[in-house]
Amino acid sequence: MRVLGIETSCDETAASVVALDGGSAPEILSNVVLSQIEEHAAFGGVVPEIAARAHVEALDGIIEAALADSDVSLDQVDAIAATAGPGLVGGLIVGLMTAKAIAAAANKPLIAVNHLEGHALTARLTDGLDFPYLLLLVSGGHTQIVAVRGVGDYQRWATTIDDALGEAFDKTAKMLGLPYPGGPNVEKAAASGDAGRFAFPRPMKGSAQPDFSFSGLKTAVRQAASAIAPLSDQDVADICASFQAAVADALGDRVARALARFRKEFPGKAKPALVVAGGVAANRTIKATLEALCSEAGFAFVAPPQKLCTDNAAMIAWAGIERLRAGMAGENAADFAPRSRWPLDSVSAPLVGSGRRGAKA
Ligand code: KG4
Ligand code: ZN
Repeated sequence: MRVLGIETSCDETAASVVALDGGSAPEILSNVVLSQIEEHAAFGGVVPEIAARAHVEALDGIIEAALADSDVSLDQVDAIAATAGPGLVGGLIVGLMTAKAIAAAANKPLIAVNHLEGHALTARLTDGLDFPYLLLLVSGGHTQIVAVRGVGDYQRWATTIDDALGEAFDKTAKMLGLPYPGGPNVEKAAASGDAGRFAFPRPMKGSAQPDFSFSGLKTAVRQAASAIAPLSDQDVADICASFQAAVADALGDRVARALARFRKEFPGKAKPALVVAGGVAANRTIKATLEALCSEAGFAFVAPPQKLCTDNAAMIAWAGIERLRAGMAGENAADFAPRSRWPLDSVSAPLVGSGRRGAKA
């Protein structure tokens, strides 16, 4: 089985070919990702119109490169899988319409993939994980804990009631005059900072509601920064370190709760696993916190390679393969309209907020 995947939901233009032959491990034959960071950096964040135009300009070439890298011709792919949501609608239209055109011209089935499902199933591509497992998705647009029970069978156990975690990093960086994207720069500054200098709040810690919240923390950072302005480099480093410690602590509290719930709901699972995905999962302080939690709770800690944790098309192609294999490729994908909001879990009620791209999940 060979599937061409296309991803254009935010600021990465990506295409990939993934193959699954018989009982052997899946193989990523190509994985081409063009980041638009430079186009957006001057604006301190992703500008939807710029993103959509950049996707239009780049996508054809990226698809050609992905096919060339994989040594697979369009005739040899079994299906085209494209992200159909959630995300910025301009980019989704570009990716999905391109995929529809290719599918129609090559007479191949089209699979409309939920971007979040791509993230959710990546650990099966990279680590061959069995269902069920727990997923922590922490990126610029999402902050969710999801019980991954099967293909198309996801239960959201927690989401953010205001900002996404990556968004909190980016806004903190902006406040402190650090460049975009903020996350890696906050982490870098924090390395030489004193995490004990500022006692920032740990939002939701100990709360019976399982969700996340980061806007209060952001406000506390702003107040601390303006109280001691102008900021020296050491002040910035100390704020970053204290912020990061607060985030890791709050995140750890929420995840510990979910691990306990997983144990209760899936008592038969001998070696349960927590999978992390999203750009924020690159943060070493956060990773170390989660790793320690998992080892304490007897969970395997699975962190797919960073390239596959952040937005990419291999995860979309793989979700296509999973759906084909499960007979869940969908009947009328040619008629599928892009969805800027598309919760992975249609059962859990949406919460207000949940990331810079709006209330999506
Ligand atoms: O998954 P991703 O690449 O893209 C989407 O959000 O779709 O995540 C990007 C987010 C940004 O908010 C970025 O600041 C954050 O991940 N990030 C980090 C780190 N690297 C990236 N946050 C904290 N620490 C990092 N090392
Ligand atoms: Zn993503």
